[in-house]
Order: sequence, then structure tokens, then C-alpha cells
Amino acid sequence: MGTLSLDSLIEALRDEFHHEARGSHIAELLSTYARTATDWRAFALFNDQNYTRNLVVREDRFELLFLCWGTGQESPIHNHESQDCWMCVIEGRVEEVRYCIPEEVRTGPLEPSGSHVFAQGEVAFIRDEIGLHLVRSAASDEPAISCHLYAAPSDQCNVYCPDTGKVTCQDLQNYSVRGRILTTGTDG
Ligand code: SIN
Repeated sequence: MGTLSLDSLIEALRDEFHHEARGSHIAELLSTYARTATDWRAFALFNDQNYTRNLVVREDRFELLFLCWGTGQESPIHNHESQDCWMCVIEGRVEEVRYCIPEEVRTGPLEPSGSHVFAQGEVAFIRDEIGLHLVRSAASDEPAISCHLYAAPSDQCNVYCPDTGKVTCQDLQNYSVRGRILTTGTDG
């Protein structure tokens, strides 16, 4: 695969999801994009308070976002509500920490089952059968940007308290849509 612009990546993903989507081909598309493109810069919108979710495209079968991780910023431990989730690092390094899904009644802290640091162009994949995870910037001196592909889109996920395992349902908030920062914090 040569180079990919954002538009051509989206076209290729549309094509993939309108047929029998092949996970390895999707990972290859994302990795090629991460290694060759610079047109993600319009979506590199950071916020001092929290990591940001910047929506590029949302269709029936998939949505594509760029997530911006300031140093020290991380997601909660969460699931993916029956989604397939690919994450590809665009710039910097991103750490994924995995957890097993706790049993129904749970009162103790969640123990990580493993962690991995992903560099530019590397792709992670998760769905609920694999487990839960949190995602964060890996370096203390360098922010990071990652591209996330969710099939199908979702507005909510379950968030797990690391100390008790208690689950709460949380709305997923986008910080920007197609490069425009939202003032309401809802997606549009
Ligand atoms: C998020 O979607 O906000 C967290 C990152 C991920 O699990 O894809």
C-alpha cells in the first residue's frame, strides 16, 4: 500500500464495511494512513483538562475519531459495548492497559492483565470478548494522537471504578466534530 489521505482512508473503510470487513486489512489501512498522512493535523485539538475525542466521520457501520492525549491524560477503564475497536497511533506513543471483565458482583480493585506501548503506525484491537482497557499517553514529556475506528458507532460505554470494580454507564462526549470544537460537549 502506498500513501493514504484521510478522504481515501474513509473511502476504503466504507468499501470494507459494506462488504465482509477484514480486520487485518483494516489494520493495514490505518497503519498506512498513520505512517504517510499529515492531514490529521486539523483534528489535533488538545484540551488541558482531559483527553479529547475528535470526530471525523460517523456512518451506520463505523465511526472514525482522532483522540488527543496530553501528557498524563488517560481514559477511564471501559468496555466497548459490542463494538470492534481499532486504535492506531498517529504521533507520539500510546499505552493500552488491559483488564479482565470482572464478575457480576465485585467489591475489590481491578488488576491489570497486561499493558503495551504502541508507537506510530502500530495498531491495537479490542472488543468485549477480549476484555476492558484504559488508554493513555505513554510518555511523560510528549503528547500523543491516535486514530480510533469503532464498528459500529456507540454513544455510551460502561466505565469501571479501578478501586471497587463498580460499573457505571457513561455517555461518550466528542470535543470536536469535523474540526470544529463543540461548545456543548455533545456530538453532532
Ligand atoms: C474513548 O473512546 O474515549 C477511549 C479510547 C478507546 O477505547 O478507544
